Amino acid sequence: ASIMILNGPNLNLLGKRQPEIYGHTTLVDVEAACSRLAASAGHAIRFYQSNREYEIIDWVHEARENMAAIIINPAAFTHTSVAILDALNAFDGFVFEVHISNVHKRESFRHHSYVSARADGVIAGFGVEGYEFALRRVCSLLASSDG
Ligand code: DQA
Repeated sequence: ASIMILNGPNLNLLGKRQPEIYGHTTLVDVEAACSRLAASAGHAIRFYQSNREYEIIDWVHEARENMAAIIINPAAFTHTSVAILDALNAFDGFVFEVHISNVHKRESFRHHSYVSARADGVIAGFGVEGYEFALRRVCSLLASSDG
């Protein structure tokens, strides 16, 4: 199957931006690790990042056509975007929400997520490994829905 991995604003700076919070791994490294993991389970990923809300919404719409799951780190849009929530509500596959940092340990404005109302699971505070954990979960759900 195909799995879409979406990244919101400022994540293009991953590895350079506030490394004390987000670490030194870049988004290119995250994509490579996810790509390897998916391939080992017989799946393929589409990996995107944008600083523009509408682009993320358009990718969620595109995912309706042929993606089995969306793994999304909406970044700051997590806390602001009813529009991304609405787009995800129009998608039928699995949805997992990932945050590199533990948003609950940070400022109170990061404690609420619009996207969590749709997510089948949420990972926060596991660093960039959170993407791989979410992907493993998607792979096992896809394996059990095959059987
Ligand atoms: C983030 C947490 C958000 O609050 C923040 O705006 C981000 C990244 C995370 O991965 O920890 O940009 O989603």
